[in-house]
Amino acid sequence: MGWLEDNVMIVTGGGSGLGRALVERFLGEGARVGVLEKSAEKAEKLANDFGEDVLVVEGDVRKYDDNARVVQETVRQFGRLDTFVANAAIWDFSTKMVDIPVDRLDALFDEMFHINVKGYLHGARAAVEELAATGGSIIYTVSNAGFYPGGGGPLYTASKHAVVGLIKELAFELGPKIRVNGVAPGAMPTDLRGPGSLGMGETTITSVPLGDLVKQCTVLQELPEAADYTGHYVLLASKANSRTATGAIINCDGGMGVRGLAETAGGNDL
Ligand SMILES: NC(=O)c1ccc[n+]([C@@H]2O[C@H](COP(=O)([O-])OP(=O)(O)OC[C@H]3O[C@@H](n4cnc5c(N)ncnc54)[C@H](O)[C@@H]3O)[C@@H](O)[C@H]2O)c1
Repeated sequence: MGWLEDNVMIVTGGGSGLGRALVERFLGEGARVGVLEKSAEKAEKLANDFGEDVLVVEGDVRKYDDNARVVQETVRQFGRLDTFVANAAIWDFSTKMVDIPVDRLDALFDEMFHINVKGYLHGARAAVEELAATGGSIIYTVSNAGFYPGGGGPLYTASKHAVVGLIKELAFELGPKIRVNGVAPGAMPTDLRGPGSLGMGETTITSVPLGDLVKQCTVLQELPEAADYTGHYVLLASKANSRTATGAIINCDGGMGVRGLAETAGGNDL
């Protein structure tokens, strides 16, 4: 018996990386899943790979109507909604403030905040009535960049700090019927893209030496796969196991915040 037996989940950006790993894990835990995904190619692959237990809507998290459509179609197909996972985002490849061309700043700000922040707000707004009906929850994908500098440039870091603010505010506003929590993963090799406004729409995070960075910046030192983060979402979504959790964020970045100042983490013979 899975932890999410008979639950119905929605995942935004379920076409690759962490989102796709969540779809697979939720199915394995007994749930059915709706997905909102912008890439037509990834949406088609999801539909082909998973069949009738996954409902795929092609659309853009920046549009309220697309968020509303995935909620309506998921509830029409599966009868209810228990958890909305807002997860789709882009990264700024740690582009520092002084390296952002001044004439690109407006477009970059809008692109980053419209996807990473407004998309999350639209998702919550579109889902609240259905979630209230089931005593459900919202889970936001944050990042180490929601807590520490240097995991992005100013715009990615600010967008993920904004997500932390949304979690706290919405947990306050939507209780007692709806719980609102977050998962803050660290690095993983995925298809995470950059902003089109900086000409990075086709650049993926796998072009960065993530294994070396993780070794330097974390206590656990190993680069995880997306699937390694999915258990945290299962825990927070589970009504039986997370009844008391709202406004909580699971930091699962390999111990970035307890890395300390020593040359190497650990530093003993264990
Ligand atoms: N990869 C990492 O190292 C890392 C680290 C910390 C946090 N995260 C976070 O994990 C989450 C998932 O990212 P990922 O690494 O799996 O990347 P990914 O690109 O593999 O997955 C994101 C998915 O969202 C889709 N998407 C992008 N823009 C969209 C839009 N406007 N509307 C609908 N769908 C859209 C993409 O097509 C893709 O399928 C993000 O919130 C990201 O910030 C990633």
